[in-house]
Amino acid sequence: MTPIPGAREMFSLEPEVIQLNHGSYGAVPIEVQERQSWLRAEMERAPDLFFARLPARLGRARERVAAFLNTSGAAFVANATEGVAVALESVPLGVRDEVLYTDHVYAAVEHALRRRAAETGAKLVKVGLGDDPVEALLGGVTTRTRLAVFDHISSSAARLLPVERLVKEFAARDVVTLVDGAHAPGILEVDLEAIGADFWVGNLHKWAFAPRPAAVLHVAPHWRERVRPLIVSYGEGFPEAVEWQGTRDYTAMLAAPYGLDLLEWLGPERVRGHNAALAAYGQRVVAEALDAASLCVDAPPGDPRLPMRVVRLAAGLGRTKAQADALCEQVRDRLGCQIKIDPGGLLRLSAQIYNQTTDYDRLAAGLPALLRSSI
Ligand SMILES: Cc1ncc(COP(=O)(O)O)c(C=O)c1O
Repeated sequence: MTPIPGAREMFSLEPEVIQLNHGSYGAVPIEVQERQSWLRAEMERAPDLFFARLPARLGRARERVAAFLNTSGAAFVANATEGVAVALESVPLGVRDEVLYTDHVYAAVEHALRRRAAETGAKLVKVGLGDDPVEALLGGVTTRTRLAVFDHISSSAARLLPVERLVKEFAARDVVTLVDGAHAPGILEVDLEAIGADFWVGNLHKWAFAPRPAAVLHVAPHWRERVRPLIVSYGEGFPEAVEWQGTRDYTAMLAAPYGLDLLEWLGPERVRGHNAALAAYGQRVVAEALDAASLCVDAPPGDPRLPMRVVRLAAGLGRTKAQADALCEQVRDRLGCQIKIDPGGLLRLSAQIYNQTTDYDRLAAGLPALLRSSI
């Protein structure tokens, strides 16, 4: 992979720690941070004027983001968590209904599902994704299945699901679809009209260089009138009722198009190619180092399009959340690398334009000894 010249200097990441976990919170390029700061300064100079002009500005920002994702039904939400909550609130559910989801679900989404199920009496049906996600998910459909919830790119294991195919199969079975695309914007060329999901949510602050928090909820035309925002304010209809949540800081949403401009200026194909190849490199060197010391179980092949790869640590390593968090902290303190380990021992490596091969070499060189000492 050819490094992107000057990429490291585009970010304000601390120099003493190597960021190998872009996937969790993203990192906002300095240029985009500055745009947001100007917007905030403008808000503080003339608050009344700023808020009077805000709806129109938000509309223009939304149009830019909607064009990027090819949808006519986008609403800004703060984050994927909020988008999922609005979608779940909008689909009527009752005691005779089943909600299908997978064992790769993001934990907070599962919490939301549990609450909605408890409130409505709907039954949750969780299926293991296995090797064939289409077979696994469709195998869980019954005459009562009302809603299917699945990832576009899963969090812990970084798996890319065939969402377009899944949405079509569920539509043919009269099942409403909610796709958690938290990681997709920026990683994939997302075409929401082609995917055709009833609901789809995606974060702009992970891989699309937007400030936090900025995300999109896409809603299919036939659902737009029925969308129930979590907080009721002045906005009427879709998307305004979802977006307008009273007086709060909307500057991340307003600045999101600058992140997209930057991505387009860098060249999305170049960025994606660089990041995916670097993640594959990182996985290989780390897995080889751990395997030589019998400290990992395997490194699943991963998807050649994704900038995230995983290595499964050996038994006894990072099994619980407390153990996983403690390990990450030690890796940060002793090796100067910020990584992510999920309970169950899944180490996830991300790659972004500010990373280089030597970042993963450093981790691979130090991790075996550190893990051995923590068993
Ligand atoms: C698959 C998935 N869904 C949802 C979320 C939640 O995102 P946020 O915290 O921005 O709402 C994440 C965050 O990592 C995620 O990976």
